[in-house]
Amino acid sequence: MLKDDNKKTAWEGKVGEWYKKSVGIKGNYYHEKVILPGVLRLLEIKAEDKILDLACGQGIFGRQVNNLYLGVDLAKTLIDEAKKLDENPKHRYWLGDVSKELKSSIIFDKGIIVLALQNIKKPFGVIRNFNKLLRKGGELVIVINHPAFRVPKHSDWEVKNDKQYRVIENYMSPLEIPIETSPFDKKDNQISYSYHYPLSAYFEMLASNGFMVEKIEEWISPKKSEGPMAIIEDKARREFPLFLAIKAIKNG
Ligand SMILES: C[S@@+](CC[C@H](N)C(=O)[O-])C[C@H]1O[C@@H](n2cnc3c(N)ncnc32)[C@H](O)[C@@H]1O
Repeated sequence: MLKDDNKKTAWEGKVGEWYKKSVGIKGNYYHEKVILPGVLRLLEIKAEDKILDLACGQGIFGRQVNNLYLGVDLAKTLIDEAKKLDENPKHRYWLGDVSKELKSSIIFDKGIIVLALQNIKKPFGVIRNFNKLLRKGGELVIVINHPAFRVPKHSDWEVKNDKQYRVIENYMSPLEIPIETSPFDKKDNQISYSYHYPLSAYFEMLASNGFMVEKIEEWISPKKSEGPMAIIEDKARREFPLFLAIKAIKNG
């Protein structure tokens, strides 16, 4: 069984139930409008590709593809939900810690980790697993909250003289940031964790595990504001990306 400190990052209990509901069958607003279309475009999936999805949650991505697919996550609640929702006989879901060595007899062509590397205490271990389980020339797509602009509890909006600024308190220092699910109700509270690293750390993790970054994309929110602040809010949305997508190739 899962014994160590890493298991505190599994989205179990109230966090898992909340995530299961908020993401639903098709994914949340950002999954649907930005992330899934972006990941599918970057991955350029072919029918014969075998796909590895680490920290797959309830299998939002798996249900988009008809390939041989393996999803792994540390939260039993979410893996059970993924198995329930996905009837594709080519799909498998495993319970496991993706920051520790994973063993599989299959070598994969494409790897993804979506909105999750930032929730894992030891992200280096995750990239090591991709190195081990992807073929040479295999492609990895990572999507994270943009670390230059979104540092939970350490970045915010500020409006001054009719301009909206993004203010960042910390960037270079790695951080473990506890996030309360119900900050105003101590009894009902449960903590999930976010881990912040600067961009250079992600590139270092990839380079030292045999990956070459082919491209990055910075994805903005397509939402539009209404009311008196709409112009400056929409401008800020266009200027400050929400998500960073990295496509990397395993060195051949
Ligand atoms: C924000 S959710 C994203 C899930 C999914 N990729 C999606 O887009 O819906 C973060 C996921 O990371 C998983 N997770 C956190 N630490 C993990 C670990 N060490 N091993 C495997 N999964 C982990 C959580 O259980 C949770 O499902």
